[in-house]
Amino acid sequence: MNRIFSGMQPTGNLHLGNYLGAVRNWVAMQHDYECFFCMVDMHAITMPQDPAELRRSTREVAAAYIASGIDPDVCSIFHQSALGGEHAELTWILSSLTPLGWLNRMTQFKEKAGKKRENAGLALYSYPVLMAADILLYHATHVPVGEDQKQHLELARDIAGAFNRHYDIEFFPLPEPQILGEATRVMSLRDGSSKMSKSDPSDQSRINLTDDADTIAQKIKRAKTDPELLPDDPAALDGRPEAANLVGIYAALSDQTAAQVLADFAGKGFGQFKPALSDLAVSVLSPISENMRRLLNDPAELDRIIGGSAERARSVAAPILHKTKDIVGFLQV
Ligand code: AMP
Ligand code: TRP
Repeated sequence: MNRIFSGMQPTGNLHLGNYLGAVRNWVAMQHDYECFFCMVDMHAITMPQDPAELRRSTREVAAAYIASGIDPDVCSIFHQSALGGEHAELTWILSSLTPLGWLNRMTQFKEKAGKKRENAGLALYSYPVLMAADILLYHATHVPVGEDQKQHLELARDIAGAFNRHYDIEFFPLPEPQILGEATRVMSLRDGSSKMSKSDPSDQSRINLTDDADTIAQKIKRAKTDPELLPDDPAALDGRPEAANLVGIYAALSDQTAAQVLADFAGKGFGQFKPALSDLAVSVLSPISENMRRLLNDPAELDRIIGGSAERARSVAAPILHKTKDIVGFLQV
């Protein structure tokens, strides 16, 4: 059976972009693959985190996965640091085959490091190598993510290829990115040119999975748009990033294409479109946030799920790491 690995950083404020770009697709794929869905806390600490908040957020992400429809009896839902040793060890081995030139091309590092690049941490720089290790440690074949992770996945494929070539063995499968749906890059509600993000200082820029119905309606009502009417052809949304974003969100939430959505709303303005979008978003997200609240009220049960999953993950990862060390030539006595 083909295997999926994907993950999310437990850094607070899970939002509609995380849901539509990632988790929703995981839910759809979970029965056709053996799935590992990780809370990547080791990636989270590449930027400063408050320890108590990191722990809280790790449980919250697990709750969001389950509340969104991931079945913990079928999929492994665990935190990366539970197998920290294995993930870190493979990262080190893969680092030895990753040229600096490849890492220097990573746009996410440039964005996160900002102008003071000399002050950026080593882990922020090697972030994509840890991500490659996450995937390769499970011999994952498919990796469903949002569009912003495409470059990191191409690097993971390059690193897998470099390992296989260097040791002249077909050991790591080259993972296939799965960037699916009508909302692979959900944009900020305040600015159609920047992506919806956990770290945007404006809470108005995103719809959080924990927002209540009134908050969702408020945020959509205030979302930036333009004065034009909606066209009947998605191509006519070119140059209208805010309008294209809202139509894409509607399409993804209702399991339609943008063209189907426009067939219903062509010639209408945002005064009509926004309330419909609000109702739709609330109908999809309310049950999720309700489920999240219920799950978070029983942390012991969540921890039981996470702990059991980590064990299952270890039973897959440990033999792969063992074989990797063998290939590299480490004495194993
Ligand atoms: P992160 O929040 O950076 O850990 O991302 C977790 C997952 O959500 C990854 O698969 C991302 O590609 C996806 N994701 C994050 N932000 C967005 C967005 N604005 N639109 C679509 N997918 C996103
Ligand atoms: N870097 C990813 C993000 O921020 C999260 C991640 C870490 C991931 N390891 C992964 C995603 C492995 C897919 C596979 O979105």
